[in-house]
Amino acid sequence: MDTSTLLKKYAIAAPRYTSYPTVPYWEAESFTIEKWSESLINAYKAHKNQGISLYIHLPFCESLCTYCGCNTRITKNHGVEVPYIDSLVKEWRMYCDLLGETPKTKELHLGGGTPTFFSPENLQKLITSILENFDEETTCSFEGHPDNTTFEHLQTLAQLKFKRMSLGIQDFDPKVQMMINRFQTPEQVVSIMQKARELGYDSINFDLIYGLPGQTLGGLGQTMNEVLVMQPERIAFYSYAHVPWMKPGQRHYSEKDIPQGDEKFALYQLGRNMLINAGYEEIGMDHFALKKDSLYKATENHQLYRNFMGYTDKRTDVLIGLGVSAISDCQTAFSQNSKTVEEYLEKTNKGNFPIYRGHILTDKDLDIRQHILNMMCKGATCFSIAIPNSVRERLAPLVADHLVELDGPQVQITKNGMAFLRNVCMAFDERLWQKEPSSSLFSQSV
Ligand SMILES: C[S@@+](CC[C@H](N)C(=O)[O-])C[C@H]1O[C@@H](n2cnc3c(N)ncnc32)[C@H](O)[C@@H]1O
Repeated sequence: MDTSTLLKKYAIAAPRYTSYPTVPYWEAESFTIEKWSESLINAYKAHKNQGISLYIHLPFCESLCTYCGCNTRITKNHGVEVPYIDSLVKEWRMYCDLLGETPKTKELHLGGGTPTFFSPENLQKLITSILENFDEETTCSFEGHPDNTTFEHLQTLAQLKFKRMSLGIQDFDPKVQMMINRFQTPEQVVSIMQKARELGYDSINFDLIYGLPGQTLGGLGQTMNEVLVMQPERIAFYSYAHVPWMKPGQRHYSEKDIPQGDEKFALYQLGRNMLINAGYEEIGMDHFALKKDSLYKATENHQLYRNFMGYTDKRTDVLIGLGVSAISDCQTAFSQNSKTVEEYLEKTNKGNFPIYRGHILTDKDLDIRQHILNMMCKGATCFSIAIPNSVRERLAPLVADHLVELDGPQVQITKNGMAFLRNVCMAFDERLWQKEPSSSLFSQSV
């Protein structure tokens, strides 16, 4: 079957599988904050030597990037910074009290929104309040908007041992930037990278997207040429997720401007081929890395892991997410914080965990979770006895289309199957086939 026909067949709404069960299939009925706390304490005690991963969500942005699917709050009022940081520190202390000590942080990531909305002084206050027992092994990273990441941000964070930075580029084509209301020039990015390298940052990631409104092969090719000269160690090349029912900002452009089907796939192929020809290695889904980067090394050593932050080379069983909408994960349970800044501040200021929903995993969930993780990170998984009939049946069309191969209890994705990894994982996702989700659904798989 040719690619175009495959695309038509498999272009359906599909999760990105940063967790299993996926958030719309979490069971609210069996979740309580007490059960979450108990699961977290147990996981922490059992895996204390690993340390934890910490994600801090900083939701504020000065202007709306209309394509954006993340939890953001648009404001030009920087008076919001200090009260928000105070609440983050309160939330962190609640976790330290619960666990009976300040956990060792193996990985810390500041995500957004736009972390560089915050002043360097306030970021310093936040980090030093949280990383009390700073460990030389802690890997610290932040997301920055090239338009407001200053030398002072880079310097302050470098002094706090940040060595990784992720820049949101999306596309350099001025026509696309106009459509998505997000502007940065290659010159700005080169200048930030030069300063960052001088200050000791050794892993720089670019976020790029294919399928944005107004995007063309010519424009994306030009963006890729510019990116390749800059040589970031990592590149996330995401499929544009069009979810206007959740993100009304996406209604600022017309759907007819969004490349779809063959057109979108051609953009993906162009970008992917240019990256691979330039020496980048493909990592799982959406990610590329130079061979010198730790993400590639982790892939080679079979240590690639995937959590709510995406792919990582640092596996910890406990991930604590602080801030608005942040998700925490202790393997046997998930929790998510309130989605509005007001609710988040109110709950933390009263000394309560700002959690509003979660899920306690069943034994079956845990088993499926492992298979999906294996597929996402290694492109293969193996059942202990045989592939269950339900999974085999759902995989049958993908096998017929040479996207996966079955060998006894083993499932292996093929080279052509990589573009359809989300569809393959769906075959393992029992909850998806059993019942209606509790909240609205996903973007297109390809
Ligand atoms: C919340 S954004 C933070 C970006 C960064 N703070 C900045 O402003 O440069 C994280 C990344 O998610 C990706 N992203 C956001 N919305 C998306 C969408 N609708 N489809 C695909 N990827 C998206 C973008 O690549 C973006 O850089």
